[in-house]
Amino acid sequence: MKKITKAVFPVGGMGTRFLPATKSIPKELLPIIDKPLIQYAVEEAIEAGIETLIFITSASKHAISDHFDPMPDLRAKFLRQNKQDLVNKLDTLPIEVKRVFVPQGQPLGLGHAVLQAEPMVEEDEMFAVILADDFIQADKNPLRRLIEVAQTNGRATISVESVEPDRISSYGVIAPDEWQGDFVGVNDIVEKPDAASAPSRFGVIGRYVLPQSVFSILAQTQMDHNQEIQLTDALKELIKVNGLQAVKLTGERFDCGSQEGFVLANLHVAMQDEKLNLQIRSYLSNC
Ligand code: G1P
Repeated sequence: MKKITKAVFPVGGMGTRFLPATKSIPKELLPIIDKPLIQYAVEEAIEAGIETLIFITSASKHAISDHFDPMPDLRAKFLRQNKQDLVNKLDTLPIEVKRVFVPQGQPLGLGHAVLQAEPMVEEDEMFAVILADDFIQADKNPLRRLIEVAQTNGRATISVESVEPDRISSYGVIAPDEWQGDFVGVNDIVEKPDAASAPSRFGVIGRYVLPQSVFSILAQTQMDHNQEIQLTDALKELIKVNGLQAVKLTGERFDCGSQEGFVLANLHVAMQDEKLNLQIRSYLSNC
């Protein structure tokens, strides 16, 4: 099987939960302290062996492209000033990593966004999909684990974690077969079910490794009641054709598509910094 070297980043979403900030800033550029969500996602991908980044964008998302552009003048200035730490912060993308920007055209959902990557993926190739607003802090690179598993049998592989019942209706939810360690075959998958009808407590996290065959399924997937093409609906179909498997996330994940997840992610990272940790503790003790 071909090495998995391409990752799709759907970044065309409207970020309505973060308005007015997202009027001009894509939600994927919102920072966890000083580093944007998309930068974390790209670093995870590169560390997992990804060599081509495919951003599926909307018309107003030039800022994401700008973020990964080199800034030679400022870089040279910092170098002259011997400020290597600032140079490192400017170098947002290794030079050898390719990036492609594909406009989504219309905001027709995650499945539609992923479908736009079809021309970039070859017939026998698997590719990754990363949703940058699922911010993950883990010892083991989550995407690398998915790639390892997908490469053993060429099957679509997704990341899941146990979700509280009151949050389950925000996620794709799997009906798992028998767990073998952190790995499970998936018998069914449902997009955003009610807690009462959810097939399990395992919600899908925004990390996927998919076969090229998902594109023809996506092309035929009907829109849902919100006029969106859901990736989950295509995965449900894929189960019949290629099978689907899931890996349980080890590590901590923050849903930065929600305000509480975003605030907690910032707090989590801040608490790892000695100085910020002390300041936060002192602030909270007076609250
Ligand atoms: C999307 C997917 C959903 C998945 C979630 C993970 O939903 O449709 O299946 O569980 O990402 O974050 P969204 O967050 O775009 O509503």
